[in-house]
Amino acid sequence: MCGIVGYVGPKNPKEIIFNGLKALEYRGYDSAGVCIFHDGGLKRIRAEGKLSVLEEKLEGEEFNGHIGIGHTRWATHGRPSERNAHPHNVKGVSIVHNGIIENYLQLREDVLSQGGVLESETDSELVAHLIAAEIDKGRDLFTAVLTVAPRLEGAYSILVVSEQFPGELIAFKSGPPLIVGLGENAFYIASDIQAIVSHTQKVIYLDDYEVAHIKDGHVQFYGLKGQPLKKTPVVLDWTVERAEKQGYPHFMLKEIFEQPRAVAAAIDPYIDVQSHTLDLGELRKENLKDLQRLYIVACGTSFYAGMAGKYFIESLSDVSVEVDIASEFRYRKMHLPEEALVIFISQSGETADTLAALRRVKEQGLKTVSVCNVKNSNIDRDADYHMYMNSGAEIGVASTKAFASSLALMQVMALGISKEKGLLSSEKETFYVKSLLAAPSLMENVLAYNRFFQEAAKDLKNYRGFLYMGRGVHYPIALEGALKLKELAYMHAEGYAAGEMKHGPLALIDPSMAIVMLAPKDELYEKTLSNLEESKARGGQIISIGTGEDERLKSLSKNYLAIPDPGSWMVNPLLEVIPLQLLAYHVACAFGHDVDQPRNLAKSVTVE
Ligand code: M6R
Repeated sequence: MCGIVGYVGPKNPKEIIFNGLKALEYRGYDSAGVCIFHDGGLKRIRAEGKLSVLEEKLEGEEFNGHIGIGHTRWATHGRPSERNAHPHNVKGVSIVHNGIIENYLQLREDVLSQGGVLESETDSELVAHLIAAEIDKGRDLFTAVLTVAPRLEGAYSILVVSEQFPGELIAFKSGPPLIVGLGENAFYIASDIQAIVSHTQKVIYLDDYEVAHIKDGHVQFYGLKGQPLKKTPVVLDWTVERAEKQGYPHFMLKEIFEQPRAVAAAIDPYIDVQSHTLDLGELRKENLKDLQRLYIVACGTSFYAGMAGKYFIESLSDVSVEVDIASEFRYRKMHLPEEALVIFISQSGETADTLAALRRVKEQGLKTVSVCNVKNSNIDRDADYHMYMNSGAEIGVASTKAFASSLALMQVMALGISKEKGLLSSEKETFYVKSLLAAPSLMENVLAYNRFFQEAAKDLKNYRGFLYMGRGVHYPIALEGALKLKELAYMHAEGYAAGEMKHGPLALIDPSMAIVMLAPKDELYEKTLSNLEESKARGGQIISIGTGEDERLKSLSKNYLAIPDPGSWMVNPLLEVIPLQLLAYHVACAFGHDVDQPRNLAKSVTVE
């Protein structure tokens, strides 16, 4: 993962680079550093820990140069420490790197055999050594980079500056994103547009195996073989969204509360509020009428949204849906029928495995749909058709509002396919569209009970483990609830299809085990209640989430959390996920964890 920033221009580089890193902190937050020209040489400051530690170290530091690079790290090779923090400097060459150099053991041998002395345990430092060695041989910075790049295997985006070549900055990549912002006599380079948009909206997206060479106030683009390229800038139309908590103690809590708005914004482009009809837009160009097979590919929370999508789509149409984890899908031997459609769900639009899976599918000539929050992200740009979560920037590392938007878009997809196939009567269309439109206000109702969820969370701190369970479409929501607790509270939680209890998990149950059961009143309610009885009989402590005043469920539960009856089974997951998010949030807060930046994680997973 990691976030990288570069600046060339007349303004104060320290401020621009640090603010850029702040915008990218979601990509990694275990250490950070900057390296900026000062008095004709390079001055580097690095710090272990969050960006605030670097900020303190930078206070009062002056830099009189006009070029610099910065990095916020999520450790791959080498533990988080100042020594392993970027930039890595070798003989006047300074680099920042996002990605993984897979052949680093071989390169390490090469560097050591040439007498190189390694200061860190990182793969990235080797790149600085290799470039410095080429400069030692008399090559200029650009030629040195072009000589070294073909030796790097894996995923990388790299920025390089050198004391021997003041006035130059080189960016090159194969894998993780890199964007060059074109300002007034200034260049802003970053892993994500968020670090650039407040300075300029005119940007160039670097593609794989491309180099941007900034020299003497100009930028030229090349292929990695040195062939000049003509790149056309994209002019964005972004309002700069300030990352502010707006009175909430954490971004995550703010984002949980923004979910009704996120759902409304996600469904808005597809729904006519007057006629209560739905239109899939550009996707209608596909022959959805004859569609038989659909694949949904994603990671983490987005994968669980895809799983829920399977229930929605298969219930409303005759399409058979397979849902795959991207890291499995991209390597598995598969027999994808030519006419299948493949949907990729990704909040960031940058997740390495999801992107690689999309590229694999495209190579086979299949049509692809992206469901992304970040517009112009790699996955968005590479797909044939596009749906947008429209959630607004999601800063908390634990995904919440993007999940709600994805669920809503999966419902839109299910309804749209069913309609195209002539399987959705106009009465049903009206019913489902009305219930989707009503979802945001029902979600507000659930959010109003935050205080009760906070109270319920107090008890959860003391359990040894958690089983989150549900049947049907509630099963993926249970998985999502367990993931939220794991990543925020660092407690062991597993999501299970409730019907699987007798096949193993029952052995885990004793009074130290909490069962979080999703038991809304639907057609599987009675079966879910039987599973609950079995767990209770073995001493499990039940926290249940159900519909309205459900006395039966209440009597079985240590703690019963009610959600309103939305009248439509499809809307239920949008409501029941809220208590799960809030329980995890409050337990994590009670432990004093950093809920916005949980340990060991990063928001965008741009490496395998
Ligand atoms: O950006 P993406 O939706 O592709 O990210 C996928 C996962 O990395 C992400 O959902 C992750 O599981 C979150 N931390 C969950 O809260």
